[in-house]
Amino acid sequence: MTIILGIESSCDDTGAAVVTGDRRVLSNIIISQNAEHADFQGVVPEIAARSHLTNLEKTIRQALAESKTELEQITAIAATSGPGLIGGVIVGSMFAKSLCSVLNKPFIAVNHLEGHALTARLTDNIPYPYLLLLASGGHCQFVAVLGLGKYKILGATIDDAVGEAFDKVAKMLSLPFPGGPEIEKRAKFGDPHKYKFPKPIINSGDCNMSFSGLKTSVRTLIMSLQAIDDTVINDIAASFQFTIGEILSSKILEAIKSYAQITNDPHKNIVIAGGVAANKYLQEILGDCVKARDYQLIYPPTSLCTDNAAMIAYAGLERYNNGLFTPLNFCPKARWSLEEL
Ligand code: KG4
Ligand code: ZN
Repeated sequence: MTIILGIESSCDDTGAAVVTGDRRVLSNIIISQNAEHADFQGVVPEIAARSHLTNLEKTIRQALAESKTELEQITAIAATSGPGLIGGVIVGSMFAKSLCSVLNKPFIAVNHLEGHALTARLTDNIPYPYLLLLASGGHCQFVAVLGLGKYKILGATIDDAVGEAFDKVAKMLSLPFPGGPEIEKRAKFGDPHKYKFPKPIINSGDCNMSFSGLKTSVRTLIMSLQAIDDTVINDIAASFQFTIGEILSSKILEAIKSYAQITNDPHKNIVIAGGVAANKYLQEILGDCVKARDYQLIYPPTSLCTDNAAMIAYAGLERYNNGLFTPLNFCPKARWSLEEL
């Protein structure tokens, strides 16, 4: 039985996971650095890299222990090797390479975005091709997933990632980091129609997106308000999340048009992945929206939407099954588009 050890260290979560050839997640350990970055209300790359160094060995030991697997039983080691904060990426990929070198096992460099992109195949076993909305703290793009390593970007944000917009608006409202889950919680108690925010490039006729003007508009509103109490915070959170829902709904329909032009997909699956895919409101809105076009929306469980090592192990498994190993002199990449794979 193939057994893959996956390592994730591209942002502020140190992860190690053990996944089997028949898609069982035997362990999926995450040590979060949220507390270390909280005072800065954002991820500090230097702190992240040092923290990965401190935590990685412990995380791997825990993943092996929980899965009752000995290091010698591992078939191959897959590590996020980009894109991301380069310090952390280097820590994870060098650790994996060293283990592979000592144990004489294959090393597989995994693109973090491919990890997010393939998660729905781990959880729901969906076939290729499918349309993907990758929505995280660093990325926001519509991708036609045509096969392993075959990705076509149909549209993307021209400025901020959608998760980044959630985080920045949360910061303006003095909510804790990461902001996405906090905005979602507050939005439940607010009026989504209280404030009207702009939907930049909504009529551009393609599936490119922009969130920067929306973010600025929230800042302008906050500066104009005399006092900000809980009711105001809840209403801003709800109105902001509603606007994001409107933008993504409109753009997902544009993405379906582009997708249908390049592929004949009988399954009509749309996957939403990345941290923002954990948002229940967006799952519901987007699910209803695509149903009207006969597509079904698939989203991984929350623990596999946000950064984790099981998705890296799984992407490694698909690569292993296709004989796609990586030489040990591979250089980790801070930037690495899915289209380069
Ligand atoms: O995929 P991820 O864990 O890390 C990156 O690769 O960026 O995504 C993290 C992003 C953060 O911006 C976070 O605020 C956002 O995902 N996020 C959410 C939710 N949970 C996480 N955004 C909206 N609603 C959520 N429930
Ligand atoms: Zn991610």
